[in-house]
Parts: sequence; structure tokens; C-alpha cells
Amino acid sequence: MSCQIAMIGLGVMGKSLALNLVDHGFSVAGYDLNQANRLRTLQEAASLSTIAGKGTFAAADDLTHLLRLLNTPRVIALSVPAGDVVDEVIAQLLDAGLSSQDIVIDTGNSLWTDSERREKEYTGRLRFFSTAVSGGEQGARHGPSLMASGDPEAWTFVQPLWQAIAAKVDASGQPIDSHQQGESCAAYLGPAGAGHYVKMVHNGIEYADMQLICEAYQYLRDVMTLSAPEIGQVFERWNQGVLNSYLMEISADILQQHDPETGAALVEMILDTAEQKGTGLWTAVNSLQSGSPAPSLVQAVFARSLSANKARRVTASKQLPAQTLIAEPCLDSTLRDLESALYCAKLVVYAQGFDLMKTTSDSEGWQLNFTDIARIWRSGCIIRAGFLHQIAQAYQHQPLLDHLLLAPEFVSELSKRLLGWRHIAAQSMQSGVPMPCLASALSYYDALRCEVLPANLLQAQRDYFGAHTYARVDHPADKKFHVLWEKSPRQQVAR
Ligand code: 6PG
Repeated sequence: MSCQIAMIGLGVMGKSLALNLVDHGFSVAGYDLNQANRLRTLQEAASLSTIAGKGTFAAADDLTHLLRLLNTPRVIALSVPAGDVVDEVIAQLLDAGLSSQDIVIDTGNSLWTDSERREKEYTGRLRFFSTAVSGGEQGARHGPSLMASGDPEAWTFVQPLWQAIAAKVDASGQPIDSHQQGESCAAYLGPAGAGHYVKMVHNGIEYADMQLICEAYQYLRDVMTLSAPEIGQVFERWNQGVLNSYLMEISADILQQHDPETGAALVEMILDTAEQKGTGLWTAVNSLQSGSPAPSLVQAVFARSLSANKARRVTASKQLPAQTLIAEPCLDSTLRDLESALYCAKLVVYAQGFDLMKTTSDSEGWQLNFTDIARIWRSGCIIRAGFLHQIAQAYQHQPLLDHLLLAPEFVSELSKRLLGWRHIAAQSMQSGVPMPCLASALSYYDALRCEVLPANLLQAQRDYFGAHTYARVDHPADKKFHVLWEKSPRQQVAR
């Protein structure tokens, strides 16, 4: 038996990727410490393999057996928990006889700096490669978005496999079945850290996109007093237009589901405390550390953390004054404005994510291709959305675009919707309904288009108490000045 690829870890994601490979005609070897996982994959793959044109699956008893089942150079994908387990499995593979030409692909949700470290650490002992996978269980089984990175030579072996099993889109960017001919949502993005980095930012955007939809839901529920199924219908309509996306589609569906036990809207029976596994936090930390502002992505993380302390919110809801200004907005115009506001804020969120990737791409020397990134996010991943096709086109027309919001097509989209966005942000403040992501996106937008910010006063404050110096508007920016602020007469000295 000579298999083309091995999958180590046959949990939900590993099993789905393995079956997807078999479904596309590849011969796969698999191993999992848990025998039940091995047997389940073996059984499901066996029923697939009876169909003409499908591949095969062989379950290995241990890692030595697994290595014997593979063609050389061996291609081994790991679907194991991020962190130390990745290094532990690699150490076991080396003990089992892995060669320096063999390729090990980490498909987990690893921290990108770990992938960078692993690429260096394993050089000469194996070819370390990473592929971040988005799309959850269904995506992994029927067409994920695959963000690959690492040794470019290894990519020549991995590419045919990944491009076959990834999600596909047609020439207009519309998702199609992954068995059809079309553009594949798998791409090579750069050295080993790049794929996991791009996936991390994907998740930061995912947090903010989800939060924006939740804010619109709360506005429609608490200000417009619509029921959950009515909001679901509004979202369903919006999903036909510029807001078309997977997250909008599932939100429309969720809001129209009833609880079988009580008959109430199911969503209203779910406790309002959000959890998180940490990738949004990684993005927020990266934004703060790199000095590349992505405030709406950060707000989305804060919004989850704030929701988590339910007991405090219940107490505060009874003690803190609201003093809201009750607005009685017209439903039709509010719906139009809210759709505009969501579109603009969503665009800003994506722009912040792409800007963050640009900053890190420059500092790491990755030369990320933003057209490719937008293209492979058009299907398969959680943030797949109609307007990613426009983002891909914007970067294709201007590969050196400094900021996504400056693309002429988006300047024009924003100018059509800006007043609606301002209206909703103002109404949310007056009515006391929190919209942290939507409002922070508007503040970011206004700061970005502000020629003179109040940072002149801030620099003066810093110089006043700490002699931190400042630059002057009428001198080159690298010439620094300091004033003895508390002395009279004030004396300015060049530093
Ligand atoms: C994806 C998802 C996936 C996972 C999130 C959930 O692209 O398939 O992003 O990776 O669902 O990591 O993250 P939280 O548990 O932090 O919401």
C-alpha cells in the first residue's frame, strides 16, 4: 500500500479532512491514539471508497506503521490540538524514522509565532509546513478555505491535494461544489508563520463580523421592538444584497428557529454570555503590539468579555441610571440606515484586518498577496461573503493599495451609506443600546479621514510632564523641540 498523504489525529477536523481527501480520489493513511476515532474514519471511508473514482483509507496501528504506508517524500498532516502536542507528535515521528525530505503539515489553530519557531527548529530534520483551515467540520469535509505556508518546495507536493479538496468559486466569485472546476480556495501565502497569521486575522474579523450582526439584532430587538423571527426575516432580505454572507445567512436561520420545549424563539432561550477560544484575543494583542490599529476587532473581544460577567450586568441594570432619549424612528428608514451602517462598519472591520496583515507582512518580509487572501476567503471559510470578491478585485487593480478604504469603489460605496451609519450610531447612543463595534468603526473612519487630529495637544502634554519633545509643523518631522513649560518666559529648545 502506498498512500499519498497521512492524517494524524482523526477527531472532528482530522476525520473530515481525511474523508474529503478520499472523496477527491486520494489514498490516505490515518492514525489516532484513540482507536474509536480510527475505526469511525475507517468505516466512513470504506462506504465512500466503493464509489468509482474515490480514494482509499488505511488505518495505521502506530506511527512506524503509518510511515511504512506512505510514498516518499512522505506528506503527513497533523490535526492535533495547538500547542505542545504538535511538538510532541513531531518528536514521535522523528523517533519513528521520519526523513529530512518528509513534509509535516500542521493543520491546527496554532499561534503563528509557534509555526515560525517550528520552521526554524525542524530545518534539516524534516520539511515543516503549515496550513490553517477555516470552515469548521462541514468545511473540512466538503470544501474548506486553506491558508498554506512554509517551505515552497514542500508546496509543490501539497498543492495538488489542497487545491483539490478546498472550496471552489466560479469566475464571478460565487461558491460552487468543491468537485466542480473552478477557482480553488487554497493558496500558498508565504513562510511558515504566514498561513496561521492570516487565519488569526480571519478569526479577528470573524469576531467583529459576528459582533456587528449581534449589535444589529439588539438594535432591532430593543429599539425597534421587533421579534426574533421578524429580525430573522430582515436578515434574510439583507442576505440577498450587499450584506450577503455565510454569517448573515446562519443568523437569519437561527432567529427563525423555535425552541421545541417552550415554543419561544430558540435564540431567546440561550444565555447571553459569549465564550471564546482565544484567536480573537491573539489578533487584538497583535494589533496593540504592532501599533497597527484594529479597534473594532479589539472591541469585539471586549464585547465577549463584557457579556461573560452576567451577574454584574444584572446588578448594574438595576442600579445604574439609563437616562436615555427615547427615539421613535420610522421602521422603513431605520432598516435602510441599519443596513447601510452594517455594510460600512463591516467594510471598516475588513479594512482593519487587511491593514494589520499589511503591517505584519512588511515587518516579517512576507509579501502577502491580498488578492489571493481575499480570493480564498470567498468560499469555505466562516467569513465568506459576497463582497470579498470586490475586495479581491480592489487589490488586483491596485496591489500596492495603502488602505482598503481608499479603493475608489469603496470610497463610492461609503459615500452612499455614510449618513445612515451616522444616524444609527447616534440613535444607539441616545437610546442606550450598546453598539461598540459599529460605533468604534465609525470613530476609526472619522479619525482616518481627519487631517488634523488633537495629537498636537497630546505631544505638548507629554513634553510638559516628561520632556518627551515634539516635532513642529514648520520644521522637518525628525527635528525635535522641547519647551521649559513652567519657566517664564517660555523657552523653546531644539533637541
Ligand atoms: C473557522 C473558525 C474556527 C472556530 C473559531 C471559534 O475559521 O473555522 O474560526 O477556527 O470556530 O476558532 O473561535 P471561538 O471559540 O474563539 O469563537
